[in-house]
Amino acid sequence: MRYQFFDQHPEAADFRVDVIEGLSAAEPYILPKYFYDEEGSRLFEKICNTKEYYPTRTEVGIIRNNIDDIVATLGKDCLLIEPGSGDSYKVRLLLDALRPIAYLPIDISKHYLQNEAKKLAAEFTWLNVHAICADFTGKLELPDHVSTINRVAFFPGSTIGNFSPSQAVSVLEEIRAMVGGEGGLLIGVDLRKDTNVLDAAYNDQAGYTERFNKNLLVRINRELAADFNVTEFQHYAFYNEKEHRIEMHLVSQEDQRVLIGDKVFLFKKEQSILTEYSHKYSVESFHQIASQAGFENVKTWVDKDQLFSVHYLVSN
Ligand SMILES: C[S@@+](CC[C@H](N)C(=O)[O-])C[C@H]1O[C@@H](n2cnc3c(N)ncnc32)[C@H](O)[C@@H]1O
Repeated sequence: MRYQFFDQHPEAADFRVDVIEGLSAAEPYILPKYFYDEEGSRLFEKICNTKEYYPTRTEVGIIRNNIDDIVATLGKDCLLIEPGSGDSYKVRLLLDALRPIAYLPIDISKHYLQNEAKKLAAEFTWLNVHAICADFTGKLELPDHVSTINRVAFFPGSTIGNFSPSQAVSVLEEIRAMVGGEGGLLIGVDLRKDTNVLDAAYNDQAGYTERFNKNLLVRINRELAADFNVTEFQHYAFYNEKEHRIEMHLVSQEDQRVLIGDKVFLFKKEQSILTEYSHKYSVESFHQIASQAGFENVKTWVDKDQLFSVHYLVSN
């Protein structure tokens, strides 16, 4: 069987518990993993294609320009695992050259993952695709029959930036455990740069990032029987220079009362709900994080404008 699907999707009850916990906090938040229902995944794909969102095309350029070196560094015949695989676009750049024994895309967005993984399996007819719907920050089990040796994780898109530096260390530790002592990690990490470039990337003119952000409330309304008035919240994204991170918020436009099931939440005018961080690193500060997680850097590739970085890490 070339294509298999393994369903470890988190329970709907987890979504409810996390949303209620987040919105009850002194500084309300919603975890960014909940952006990704099918519509959220589609909107993220649109964001990646906007002119302002430099990370996707820059990372793709780095991989394309260095493909021979990347493949020589990783070696062939690995078991390739991609946490947060999304549309599996970037992995297509590696597959023919890398010839992995199998590809394991892992994503929380179930229907989107199924569609994308099936498309990939139809396109690369020689490839074994084992798609796993799961939360990679939670309990995740790889299928029993997959190889335990020569595992390589591919973690592009600077998804690691969505975690605080200390959480990022834990996520990297989990990935290190998943690939084992002999395995490796090819990871894309967004770099610090001019504030205007960063602010523009998270406030695209076409409004896809705004829709992506607000889709969280649409999803909560639909799945958790809530009554958010989506037009009464404003998308707000800015670069926090001190913390080296983009912060994305939904800001209440008036004093309002929202029901989630039978729970009441009161939002004051100007009060914000934090929906995402996107931390930006220097090459050195990322290597420090990786080293705290037990990884050593084998090689780093950066574009000529130093916007984005791709690193190959192995256990130290
Ligand atoms: C920033 S996007 C990156 C997508 C793709 N890897 C790329 O480079 O364009 C993050 C992806 O990770 C998935 N994701 C986010 N949090 C997740 C989690 N906790 N567990 C599993 N998948 C997650 C999302 O559904 C989305 O596809």
